[in-house]
Amino acid sequence: MPMLNRRTFLQGSAALGGAFALGAGVAARAGASPDPQVLTAQFAEARIAADGVTPKIMTYGLGDAPHANVPPVLRMRKGETYAARLVNRLDEPTTVHWHGLRIANAMDGVPEMTQPYVYPGDSFDYVFAPPDAGTFWYHPHCNTLTQIGRGLAGVIVVENPDDPVFDAEIILNLRDWRLGAGGKFIDPFKPRDAARGGTYGTVRTTNWQREPVFEAPAGSLVRVRIAAIDVTRIYTIALEGAAAKVIALDGNPVEVPFPLDRLDVGPGQRMDIVVRMPEAEGQTARLGNYRGSQPWTIATIRAVGASLKRDLRGIAPLPANPIAEADLSTAKRIPLELTATAEHKAAPSICGSLGYTFWAINKVPWPGDTPDPITPIEELKLGKSYVLQISNRTPHAHPIHLHGLSFRILNSNKRSFLPPPTDTILLLPDEQAEVALVADNPGDWVIHCHIIEHQKTGMTGYFKVV
Ligand code: C2O
Ligand code: CU
Repeated sequence: MPMLNRRTFLQGSAALGGAFALGAGVAARAGASPDPQVLTAQFAEARIAADGVTPKIMTYGLGDAPHANVPPVLRMRKGETYAARLVNRLDEPTTVHWHGLRIANAMDGVPEMTQPYVYPGDSFDYVFAPPDAGTFWYHPHCNTLTQIGRGLAGVIVVENPDDPVFDAEIILNLRDWRLGAGGKFIDPFKPRDAARGGTYGTVRTTNWQREPVFEAPAGSLVRVRIAAIDVTRIYTIALEGAAAKVIALDGNPVEVPFPLDRLDVGPGQRMDIVVRMPEAEGQTARLGNYRGSQPWTIATIRAVGASLKRDLRGIAPLPANPIAEADLSTAKRIPLELTATAEHKAAPSICGSLGYTFWAINKVPWPGDTPDPITPIEELKLGKSYVLQISNRTPHAHPIHLHGLSFRILNSNKRSFLPPPTDTILLLPDEQAEVALVADNPGDWVIHCHIIEHQKTGMTGYFKVV
């Protein structure tokens, strides 16, 4: 893994971002870089809990102005150059990872592996052309449990001019907060829970609000983009009071839109649905979480005005993204075993080790942010096909996320529905699944559980594509 000096800047990263090949079949228009969108990581105070204002929240704002709300939705266009300048006004190093975007490795935001730390007062320029349209998200890859836990997680919309147009769009950033009395942050995790399913927050929010209510025209078709970006929680999402169809999962269109019944969405995953609003003014569609014994409301959409009388049956699939299909006849098989591991103390690190290891991939527990370079799980040959044989040998679910490459789930002992290609697979307890990919993006690509306590206590590794 290349080690970078802490304070080296990638000079001319604008040129880099444009020049990097994005892999076979990915046509990126590398035009002149636009002016960067300034993304300022900063502290804020906001009322999240009912009983007090929460200090020391972390958020992103656009430009220099203070921002005390949910990080902005970043809009990009498929195949077009996008530029952002991360400015760090926190009191610790940070970076931005563009979750699900298949962009150049130097733009991937993993400190010490793909870029230097961005220290307080410093900045870093990201430039890339996202090859796929859809719903994605952005977050730091440094001291991640604390930084995402305190607010640094925003939604990305990559638009495709060929996408069908709906009557309205609602974007939902789902997350919890670990707040105690008076809205103050409490310990981000409990070691006992980190060694199990993860530590849950105490306050559930949607766009940093508790059970927000939106409005949309009666009888209209509303595209709802849902990003499940809590550090721990797996949602089981269903809709009451209206019908909806699923049109994309983890950014990628489903081949045939299907009715939303109940769908699991794990940390890091996204779901795009089209809701057909009720006919009459004042009626509501209620999106809820049905995991666990007590269902609760994620968001409510209230119908307003006269019915637009749209028909959900008429919706066409979204245009597919240009993700290469693996050649299964030549693909090399790579086993990936997820296990619990003997607990030992982990070394402190600049990016916030949690101090323990509980988990391992192929018996190697790596918290992913120690300066000790570990060897890649496997070196992948650029352009070649691979099948990852992932075995979850634990009684817990793990949303396993791979950077820089998308993969297709081929089979599983636990599921019959196979979703479109993805960057994150929610492995169920004891699930064994085979996923296929083409290693068409060069660089060091991290793979880890997106239950951040699992990631940071050993369930992390990386592939080197050369
Ligand atoms: Cu969503 Cu390694 O990240
Ligand atoms: Cu996990």
